[in-house]
Amino acid sequence: MKKIIIANWKMNPSSAKEAERILNGVKKTAVRLKKTQVVICPPFIYLNNLKKIIGKSANLSLGAQNAFWEVEGAFTGEVSPEMIRNYGGSYVILGHSERRALGETDEIVSKKTLTCLKTGLKTVVCIGEKIRDEQGDYLVFLRDEIRNSLNKIQKKFLKSVIIAYEPIWAIGKKDTEAMSPADIHEMAIYIKKILSEIYGQESALAVPILYGGSVGGGNAGNIIKSGGVDGLLVGHQSLKPENFSEILMSAENF
Ligand code: PGA
Repeated sequence: MKKIIIANWKMNPSSAKEAERILNGVKKTAVRLKKTQVVICPPFIYLNNLKKIIGKSANLSLGAQNAFWEVEGAFTGEVSPEMIRNYGGSYVILGHSERRALGETDEIVSKKTLTCLKTGLKTVVCIGEKIRDEQGDYLVFLRDEIRNSLNKIQKKFLKSVIIAYEPIWAIGKKDTEAMSPADIHEMAIYIKKILSEIYGQESALAVPILYGGSVGGGNAGNIIKSGGVDGLLVGHQSLKPENFSEILMSAENF
């Protein structure tokens, strides 16, 4: 399976020109990769411009950071999965902790996931605990978050689902403060176990598990090598083409 490295640009940058500059910087490295799929998730408004830069390169794709659960209609301010597809997006990130902090529940994530999957988008469902407690309550929290976020998803859709494990306490820091590869490995196994309970082992083991939270050039290689994950979800470091390219090369050469 190819490694999947996703850039989550969040609400950045503030101009289309800057968005194009970042993507052009990343593209130089991305198009040379053989074993790594690169997915750039900018704000919706840049998708159309960036689509033109990406062209037909097979291992560089576009995605969105959110989508609505309805197909069309009177939903002011929302963007449908079909619109994302028509603007060149083939991936979507759903249930990011920053969206959950604004009120997005597991139920909403589940509804959005279903519509995105039906539209043919590869859907990255984010999960992650706020804190780690000594009693292990975070494990129960994660189990429920996975089950409820995938509540509406039948096994037949699972091949287009990607799980991004992003412990909230590890987001937005220096790469020295990310979760350790050994702990990430443990969590990857735990997530596979939960998915196996829902969908059976064979289907569950085919779901890519990504890690996100303070990934940078300094830790990407070790996380890929020893973290037992199929890729990375990269936030602030994905806005710096040189740093992001370093992460891509770590995945490619692992
Ligand atoms: P970070 O963000 O890499 O800046 O920690 C990751 C994310 O929130 O997706």
